[in-house]
Amino acid sequence: MNWLIHDYREDDLAAVVHLIDVTAELGQESVFSLAECIGALTTRQPAVVAVSEGQPIGAALACVAGDRAWVMRIAIAPAWRGRGLASALLRELERRLVAARVRRIAYVLPEEELLGEGLRNAGYTRRPAVAYFEKAEPAGASATATASLDELGGRLLPGDLWAEVAGMEAEKDVIERRIVLPLAAPERAARHGVLPPRAIALFGPPGTGKTTFARAVASRLGWPFVELLPSRLADEGNLAAALRTAFARVAELERVLVFIDEVEEIAPVRSVPAQSGMHGVTNELLKLIPRFREGEERLLVCATNSIRSLDPAFLRPGRFDYLIPIGTPDAAARSAIWSRYAAQRPDVDLDALVAASGRLTPADIEHVARTAAQSAFERDLGAGPATAPAGAGTADYLDALSHCRPTVTPAMIDQFTADIASHARL
Ligand SMILES: Nc1ncnc2c1ncn2[C@@H]1O[C@H](COP(=O)(O)OP(=O)(O)O)[C@@H](O)[C@H]1O
Ligand SMILES: [Mg+2]
Repeated sequence: MNWLIHDYREDDLAAVVHLIDVTAELGQESVFSLAECIGALTTRQPAVVAVSEGQPIGAALACVAGDRAWVMRIAIAPAWRGRGLASALLRELERRLVAARVRRIAYVLPEEELLGEGLRNAGYTRRPAVAYFEKAEPAGASATATASLDELGGRLLPGDLWAEVAGMEAEKDVIERRIVLPLAAPERAARHGVLPPRAIALFGPPGTGKTTFARAVASRLGWPFVELLPSRLADEGNLAAALRTAFARVAELERVLVFIDEVEEIAPVRSVPAQSGMHGVTNELLKLIPRFREGEERLLVCATNSIRSLDPAFLRPGRFDYLIPIGTPDAAARSAIWSRYAAQRPDVDLDALVAASGRLTPADIEHVARTAAQSAFERDLGAGPATAPAGAGTADYLDALSHCRPTVTPAMIDQFTADIASHARL
């Protein structure tokens, strides 16, 4: 179905309240009042919202009490009833509840006219009668899966990281169409012969947002994010064996995004003698990836600053579906990133900042913005009682920019351009 389900965000409140309101009139009642629902939403109890073409079309919300959760309401816009949206919302909601360590989910539904006059005659006021459904030990909450996730240091990320990626429209577009949508709607993708990806690599200069994208994809899918850190795995002694154990734990999870950063350190070209110590590790990964690919609802994301130093066998199409370049942001993306830092000061000349930050990465821009904020702060302290506008001004930013050494050198850009030609697979 062409909807996307995301975690409830503050700016969904009006739309969700409206949905609850209109659907209550249509008989989608609940024992929880609108006020209770709003209370749950504003205290950030688990809730999910379905959106189609930018319009909220359904919502499901719950409240958690100890290890039990109550589904408070599933509201579906009238035009979307009977299309499986309610169960999709419930499934997504359950995932959040499972992650919150809930062991029992209760759902109180209004029932048809089953009660006669008895209660009313006894002085009861009729409330919507209830049919009580309960699911003990919801799927995915198995003790082993929970233990494996803890063991791997995995966790669910906040639901809005995708929206937090400023600019980078071209990269976002590719990642959304090739990665997120097929994984979010696998049955629909299968109808067209589209196989959801199982492994992708992101490559590009440091600080361009590879880690940010990996986290944003996990957030968007609502999957736990597990980062395998070779340096930490190596502490256990034998890196190849540690990787094997980690992947075995990953296999116990129902759904997961596994992230390996700086993968060139563990899968370098095997013909380089200086790297011979890593051959066993590379071989192990080559064996682990096909097995990992057999599972559903899982994605391996590897990131590297140096795709050319990866073993070619490692990157074969059968192992990695897409090799996606993440470059320095173009003018539109820089403008989006600058405007985020300068949001406080509408007088800041964004065009000047965009023009002066040609080769900077988002990480460089973040650093410059911090430096500029620091200058504004120090000036303010020196000026006695606060009078100046809050936040850095254009001059602060330009001054900080003039001292910034871009991470990415022209030589790195040339190399990246060549790597795109020889390696990118979209
Ligand atoms: N598109 C973006 N919008 C805003 N901030 C970004 C963006 N991409 C990266 N950043 C910020 O820049 C810094 C470096 O990004 P990161 O994802 O770690 O880069 P990489 O993994 O490619 O080295 C992080 O602090 C991140 O929050
Ligand atoms: Mg990184």
